Amino acid sequence: MKGIILAGGSGSRLYPITKLYSKQLAIIYDKPLIYYPLSIMMLAGIREILIISNEETIPLYKKLFGTGSHLGLSVSYTVQKAPNGIAESFILGEDFIGKDRVSLILGDNIFYGKMNFFYSAVENEEPGATIFAYQVKDPQRYGIVEFDSATGKPAAIVEKPKHPKSNYAVPGLYVYDNRVVEIAKGLKPSARGELEITDVNKAYLDMGELRVEKIGRGLAWLDTGTPEALLQASNFFGVIEDRQGLKVACIEEIAYNKGFISLKEFKELAGTIPDSLYKDYLLRVAEE
Ligand code: DAU
Repeated sequence: MKGIILAGGSGSRLYPITKLYSKQLAIIYDKPLIYYPLSIMMLAGIREILIISNEETIPLYKKLFGTGSHLGLSVSYTVQKAPNGIAESFILGEDFIGKDRVSLILGDNIFYGKMNFFYSAVENEEPGATIFAYQVKDPQRYGIVEFDSATGKPAAIVEKPKHPKSNYAVPGLYVYDNRVVEIAKGLKPSARGELEITDVNKAYLDMGELRVEKIGRGLAWLDTGTPEALLQASNFFGVIEDRQGLKVACIEEIAYNKGFISLKEFKELAGTIPDSLYKDYLLRVAEE
């Protein structure tokens, strides 16, 4: 299973932060936003990762993650020349995906809580696609799934409907078989000029091969679309990390806990980090 993190876009709503770099580098409490989706991929055991972003931001991601080998990962990078749509990820990522299955996470989507629904979808090798459905109070801002009231099966997927018939939004986390590349190549741009991820999902729905897993209560899927949302997300993780004394989305710790790197490598890695609370934390984890 390959993993793609789409982390570009215009981010115009977050100007002037996004005058400098794409929004996925905005700081959420104590680390860049992209650490959160990257850690979800790592926790699912996905070690080959492609980061797609605009030309200006790719060098900054390279500075953050390099080849990923220090984390036991293989991280590569591709430029998306313009925000032509989320589904362009599979066209830009064709060589990277090769003959494999692929998961996509949007680099501005933050999840916190039990992610077993995603880990099982990654492990399930049946043909088709798996997406998720999460109840929200403002469904018109998202791609949404309508369910057949008699069978409970997904009946339609609609991108940002003005009058939503369901409050189940589709989070930016998707699992596809290899056919997604051909499906993406066959898409036509939508009225807003983008290759829509919702059209990819519709193609799987039409083939009868779209699994939609409802996510229950207790999982936080946080918004990062506005300065207020970024502040709320920072406060959320600040409270949790401070209360437990444990870090969320600490990629070095995850690499070690998942066995991607040995204790010796973890200690060496911690030793290369400048003196900081982050380093103190890693050294504490190494001792424990
Ligand atoms: O967050 C979940 C939602 O994400 C889904 O429910 C929608 O179906 C899906 O279309 C998407 O909606 P958004 O309005 O959030 O999409 P947005 O255009 O804001 O892009 C999401 C992220 O992907 C954002 O961080 C920018 C990045 N992006 C987007 C596009 C279109 C790119 O890097 N390149 C792109 O071409």
